[in-house]
This record gives sequence, structure tokens and C-alpha cells, in this order.
Amino acid sequence: MSSSKLVDRGAPVQGALVIHPDREGRGASRGAGARLEEACGLALALDLEVRDAMVVTLRKLTPATLFGRGKVEEIAHLVDDRQADVVVVDDALTPVQQRNLEKAWTAKVVDRTGLILEIFARRARTREGRLQVELARLSYERSRLVRTWTHLERQRGGFGVMGGPGETQIETDRRLLAEKIGKLKRELAEVGRTRTLQRSARKRVPYPVVALVGYTNAGKSTLFNRLTQSEVLAEDLLFATLDPTLRSLKLPDGRPAILSDTVGFISDLPHELVEAFRATLEEVREADVVLHVRDIASEETDAQAADVRGVLERLGVDMDERRILEVWNKLDLVPQDERQTLVGDARRAHPPAILVSAATGEGCRELLQAVAGLVDEAPPVEVRTHAGDGAAVAWLYRNGRVLERQTGEDGGVRMEVSLSAQALGQFEQLFPNAQVSASLP
Ligand code: GTP
Repeated sequence: MSSSKLVDRGAPVQGALVIHPDREGRGASRGAGARLEEACGLALALDLEVRDAMVVTLRKLTPATLFGRGKVEEIAHLVDDRQADVVVVDDALTPVQQRNLEKAWTAKVVDRTGLILEIFARRARTREGRLQVELARLSYERSRLVRTWTHLERQRGGFGVMGGPGETQIETDRRLLAEKIGKLKRELAEVGRTRTLQRSARKRVPYPVVALVGYTNAGKSTLFNRLTQSEVLAEDLLFATLDPTLRSLKLPDGRPAILSDTVGFISDLPHELVEAFRATLEEVREADVVLHVRDIASEETDAQAADVRGVLERLGVDMDERRILEVWNKLDLVPQDERQTLVGDARRAHPPAILVSAATGEGCRELLQAVAGLVDEAPPVEVRTHAGDGAAVAWLYRNGRVLERQTGEDGGVRMEVSLSAQALGQFEQLFPNAQVSASLP
């Protein structure tokens, strides 16, 4: 495969080779070709110009360079020929392998974790997101330092050898890293406290929370914009979203809800980043409804969905208790003759999936209706307000669904309103003079 899409944002263009090492017999859940394509997507998201890309089958592992000597030489020629500045190796490299390959190819070598960390760093939109990514990056560096260190020790003949400039340097590096990590953790804890406060403030507003999750590039941001009619960065790049974004949403029955957009998931997520996700995904854990957005036009849709479920489980999101609704997106890309089968599949899914196109808006109304059906609603109540209590009436319109309204001769208003239990409690506190009673059937 050869591709030369260029995303230029003013920085000097860096040419890249992308290599997906296919470890034979590793039991990968999806095709090497698809993995390679995804790795190219990651490289593009970093503004690299992909000059060539290939799958390299690894029959046996070569500890010093991952690839065998012949392959290393072959790639060196290619690097030269394509004038690549960077080689992306879509796998985990040890620091030694990375250094040896950089020497052999006279190019910068980035492994999968390094690549994903870099993308996350660029995409982080909030202070918390930036801190989380920085922490993940430092933990990654520290793990590499430890490994380098062990390697050096072995070279020098094992433990008990003290002194030496290399040793001192590494120890200093380790201490500096540990200090930085400690500082970041304290800052994060502080930011986390603020976030908890914000969340509990939001809880006092009795709106149900609907969270979007999904594999990267599934169309979450586009759907988010479509449903809330707002403008949030949506790009044909991986990871356009790192931090949860919240917007209000009006359900078809008039009730308000909060829609939360979250991070894009990816397979083989580096473990450093799973931690970074953990805090971000608290939104998902606490959501009333979780919408799992899937790119139904992708050949990888099933494998991607399995990855998303896997990450959610690793993060401790209880899949059973959640009200999870699958949203099969990009329907517009599905050929007409395949749609009927898809509609059948969606109906047979448990719970039935909703087919939409975030791009055209098709199916979005049905989606909102399904969400409204999932959000608990208490039986309607009858509320009587006194003349002139416009604030109470306005509050009910904002926070509930008004089914009926009559104005009496005395100017008082009688309303039949559907409210969540939480909203009802709040209303009674805010407007103690209003009379609330169970609505007659
Ligand atoms: P991450 O932020 O990486 O997690 O991605 P995301 O899931 O938020 O995806 P995003 O909304 O950024 O969409 C990814 C790409 O798919 C963009 O180019 C969108 O324009 C495109 N896209 C999203 N929904 C649809 C759709 O219904 N139909 C088509 N044809 N394209 C879509």
C-alpha cells in the first residue's frame, strides 16, 4: 500500500514509513492489513506524510532489532529511497531495539505507545487531559529507563558494581522523573477534586446524563454535534476527542438531558493510557444511558466493538447495569442492497440497535426517542401554582415535560407535569408554596 495524504498545519512535513509487524501465531483478532491501515491513520493524525506502508511478517523474533537482519537492511533502503524521516513501528519496541533501529535506518523510530501518547498529548483539550497524558508519557519513559538500566547492569557484569558516569546519570534521571511524576499526580488530584465538585453541582441539576463511547473514528463527535447542534472539533483523524465534552440536549418529549462525548478507543491501548482513561471515563460510569457508537460501514466493526467492550470492562464500567444502546452509524455509506439485512440485524440485537447517519441526520430522531424511552420517568404529578408565580411555571417547563396546562380564573395555574423523582424533590424545595399531588389517571 502506498499513500501520500498530507495534513499540513504549517510545520515542516515529515515523511514516514509505517510498518506493522505481524507476529505469526499471535492470534490477532483482526487482519494485519486493517491494523496497518489504522497505524497509517495514527501517523496521519500526527501530521506525518505516509510515504509507504507495509506489513512485515515476523517468523522469529530478533531481540536486538525485532526484525531479522535482512529485513532491517531492506527497510534501510526503503527509508533512503522514500526519504523518510520517521519510521513508525506498530508494535512495542524495547529501548534497545529502538536505538538499534534508529542507527540502522538513520531515521527517528517511533513505536505504537510513543505514537499514541504523542497523539493524545496533541488532542488533550482540558488541563486534566493534558496532565493525564503527561503522566502517562512520564510513566512510559520511566519504564524504558528501568529497562535500559537493567540492560546496562547486565553488560557490566551484574549487581554490586557501583559508580560509573552512566549509572549516576540514569539514577539522576530516575529521580527527576519520579519527582516530576509525584508533582503531576498531586496536580491531578487537585484537578480531580474540582471535577468531582463540578459533577456534584451538576447532579443537583436533575438532568439525565447520556454518554457517547466508541472506537476512534466511529463518528462520536459528529453525532454529538448533530444531536446538540453544536460545533465541536470533528475531523477525519483519529482521536479528535480526548476530554469529555458536555452539552445539553432536548429529548423529543421535551425533557432535557446532558450529552457527554468521550475519548475514542483503540485496540492494544498502552497500559499507561488506560490509567489516563480511568478518570476521564468516570462520566461513562455515572451516565444514565451509554450510547456505543459504531462505524457500521467499517469491515472491522465487530472487532472494534469487541475492543470497546473490552476496554470498558478493564476500566470497571459495569456493562450489565448500564443501559447501553448500540448506535450503528455511517448508514449513508452502506449500499442500498445491504441495508435490509442490516435493518434486520439491528432489530435482532439485544437491545435492538439504532441505525443512524450522523452525517445526514437519518435515524437521529429515532435515536433520541429510544434514549427518552430508556431514561426513567416517574408518573406525572399535578402542580398548582398561585397567580404570579411565573418562576415556578418556567422552572417546570425547563426541567420537566408539561403534559397539560390550565390557567384558572384567579390567575393560578394547574399543570400536569412529568418530572424525574430528583427534579420533583428539587421543585418542592424551591417552590414550597406550590401544591403538588399525584395526577389522576
Ligand atoms: P475520535 O475523536 O477519534 O474518537 O473520533 P469520533 O468517533 O469522534 O469520530 P468523528 O465524529 O470525528 O468522525 C470521524 C470521521 O467520520 C469524520 O470524517 C466524520 O466526518 C466521519 N463521519 C462521522 N459520521 C459519519 C456518517 O454518518 N457518515 C459518513 N459518511 N461519515 C461520517
